[in-house]
Amino acid sequence: MDKIVIKGGKPLKGAVKISGAKNAVLPMMAATLLAEGRFEIRNVPDLRDVKTMAHLLRIIGAKVAFAESRLVIDTSDCGFYEAPYELVKTMRASIYVLGPLLARYGQARVSLPGGCAIGPRPVDLHLKGMEDLKATVVLDKGYIVAKARKLRGSSVSFDVSSVGATGNVLMASVLAEGRTVINNAAREPEISALAEFLVKMGAEIEGIGSGQLRIHGVSKLEPVSFDVIPDRIETGTFMIAAAITGGEVEIQKTDPKLVASLTSKMRMANVMVEEGESVIFCKAPERLKPTNVTTSVYPGFPTDLQAQWMTLMCLADGSSVIQETIFFDRFAHVAELRRLGAQIQVNENVSIVTGVGKLIGATVMSSDLRASACLILAGLIAQGRTDVLRIYHLDRGYEKIESKLVGLGANTWREEGSS
Ligand code: EPU
Repeated sequence: MDKIVIKGGKPLKGAVKISGAKNAVLPMMAATLLAEGRFEIRNVPDLRDVKTMAHLLRIIGAKVAFAESRLVIDTSDCGFYEAPYELVKTMRASIYVLGPLLARYGQARVSLPGGCAIGPRPVDLHLKGMEDLKATVVLDKGYIVAKARKLRGSSVSFDVSSVGATGNVLMASVLAEGRTVINNAAREPEISALAEFLVKMGAEIEGIGSGQLRIHGVSKLEPVSFDVIPDRIETGTFMIAAAITGGEVEIQKTDPKLVASLTSKMRMANVMVEEGESVIFCKAPERLKPTNVTTSVYPGFPTDLQAQWMTLMCLADGSSVIQETIFFDRFAHVAELRRLGAQIQVNENVSIVTGVGKLIGATVMSSDLRASACLILAGLIAQGRTDVLRIYHLDRGYEKIESKLVGLGANTWREEGSS
């Protein structure tokens, strides 16, 4: 397993380009199963999760080629309708093939995802949504087995807003007979991007970007070419990196609208943030003001930036409160930040961070993707050397992070196969 070593203390300066969004490209890749032919998806990040989804599509029978941020997927010869446990256990987003397989082939066998480092993550809403569309769904030896001769449009209401369940039901409904209404649909930009992708394929969807999606099923969809939106979590991570290191960074090839909730919190913390059309400029303040955040669904503060914000608040001039409302147990990074000298108290889903003025380098262990990012941020500011172990989590969601950081002046490198 690789690790990343950081010698902290260098202010980040310069410009960095943001990659395409992982959480937008993964459902799009699954959506290619809804039509026969050759798709081209551009601005695709080179990530482990993208490779895992490509592997899954190949198992199903698609031909997949990936080079220079361009993914070509040919779905002409698909004939195996299963997502095996070996893949699903490494990437929960594999469940996105459930809706497309069911809609196009009338059957799907998808392993139930197992445990997850960020807390319990049930899939009951995905299953309920398929049943609402008149599929039969049974659980068999750890697998979801779903069948439907023809899915039928229906009213699907989620009691909890779920990105994954909205995406899955949306993909299933575009080929269903009649009209589907998804109530309390997730409004995350990655779901809107998926909906735009489906519309380009010929789907009829109204209400994109709102909490209610209305779909008229069509009988056939066509392959398309599409550009992936910028990754808002990578964008936010670099904004925080500029602020925490006392630096000034221009973040390019992004969309400031996607990180508006973070920008507003950054300004409250005294960070200077200027926005252009596809550029954000961040300059660190002399002193960071403690600023509370509560995670919530889009357009609220994203849970995927909670760990990174916590690291920033470790350096603030006082105490701040961070409340996690999406994944209640998503605090595995706290124990590792404490190893670097952070003062954080946790009570259920609320943590209180007391700014400590400085962190001291140590060896720390990543537990999940965003926890890894927060430990990298901590290492950038910690005195001395920080070794971040189990970096494979980071490789799931951040494209070339160490070379992007080096480009901004950080003293960091990867050591292969070291721990
Ligand atoms: N939930 C249920 N039942 C379900 C599905 C979800 O109770 O059937 C609950 C979850 O337990 C959670 C809430 O609903 O409390 C929201 O979960 P959601 O379904 O929205 O999450 P997800 O689709 O599994 C995606 C992202 C996550 C991101 C969340 C929240 C992808 C591939 N993953 O997960 O991204 O944290 O939405 O925004 O899009 C990451 O990139 O690091 C990551 C974890």
